Amino acid sequence: MKIVFFDVDKITREYLQNKPIGCGEVILLEESLENISPTQYRQIKDAEVISVFVHTALRMNNESLDKFPALKLIATRSTGFDHIDLNYCQKRKIEVVNVPKYGESSVAEFAFGALLALVRRLIQARTDMKNNFVRMNEYIGFDLYNHTIGIIGTGAIGRHMAKLAKGFGMDILAYDLYPNEELSRILNLKYVSLDELYAKADVISLHIPATPQNYHLLDDKAFEKMKKGVIIVNTARGSLIDPEALYRALVRKQVAGAALDVLENEDFIIHDDIILKSQDIPIDFAMNTIVNARLMQMKNVLITPHIAFNSIDAVHRILKTTYENINAFCEGKIKNSVLKK
Ligand code: NAI
Repeated sequence: MKIVFFDVDKITREYLQNKPIGCGEVILLEESLENISPTQYRQIKDAEVISVFVHTALRMNNESLDKFPALKLIATRSTGFDHIDLNYCQKRKIEVVNVPKYGESSVAEFAFGALLALVRRLIQARTDMKNNFVRMNEYIGFDLYNHTIGIIGTGAIGRHMAKLAKGFGMDILAYDLYPNEELSRILNLKYVSLDELYAKADVISLHIPATPQNYHLLDDKAFEKMKKGVIIVNTARGSLIDPEALYRALVRKQVAGAALDVLENEDFIIHDDIILKSQDIPIDFAMNTIVNARLMQMKNVLITPHIAFNSIDAVHRILKTTYENINAFCEGKIKNSVLKK
């Protein structure tokens, strides 16, 4: 059996070399699925197991997966699986497994760090210091203490975010399809409607998955309902925010700032060579890329390359679960399936 890991970095290589998977031939590639050379493809086209990361620019759909006729398992090294076409996998009887829990503390700590960096202008102050051009008035921020955070999604990460917010002395509003009454009691967190959260929160932080129902949840209408000067934090998924609507809201100062670890079609920023090489990039991908580039230029927008998970502790937890997922498959068992049975 051939087991192919894509997007392999130094940490992943070292981990898997020290802890060999129990069956088959393991091939570790630095490239993403869409960037492999014809020679590499010849070596791996009979792969039965592939492991990918979220930085898969083109969704893993029939076009990319048809290239692997023997494929039986996709082990994504992430919690989210919106980069994989599950309907297609189900039709082809390809199992899809993920890492359901690894980094609520890692992502929430990052979200809070990005929020603090944004509201206290850390990046700008550091850049100005380096350029010997310090202007104190430019760095005036606001305390999080006594301000209101609105947390959308109180699952594993949102819950941890709420704990950190409590530590900072913030008032906490939350919205979730399934309110957690115990959390509400312990943290003095108040579940409200989305409209009330929009109207009252000084900071809105997103912690829900990307689903068709919440595609562009934050659109022009949503921004209009928010408190003027709100701060947006998104460490969940780019498609939750309409990037053009956010750009417009920032320009008219309805939104005062945004910390974005994820962007819609973010991979085209990191792998812009895909756009250059491709003959037929869909127009909305190209538009997103232009708006993302504009957002990146704004002083009050802090964009990071999808790294909220990226602490050594979380990466080791991801690798451990992926290793266990594939080893279970070797023993004929399925662990952490994301397919509806
Ligand atoms: P989770 O599954 O534990 O929690 C998600 C929560 O969202 C649940 O409570 C669910 O009821 C709620 N929810 C789902 N759809 C909703 C909707 N339309 N409206 C209101 N609530 C809704 O997920 P977890 O682990 O907390 O992850 C949250 C997000 O963070 C996911 O999108 C995940 O992909 C992303 N993430 C980002 C990382 C990064 O590096 N930037 C790393 C890990 C996760």
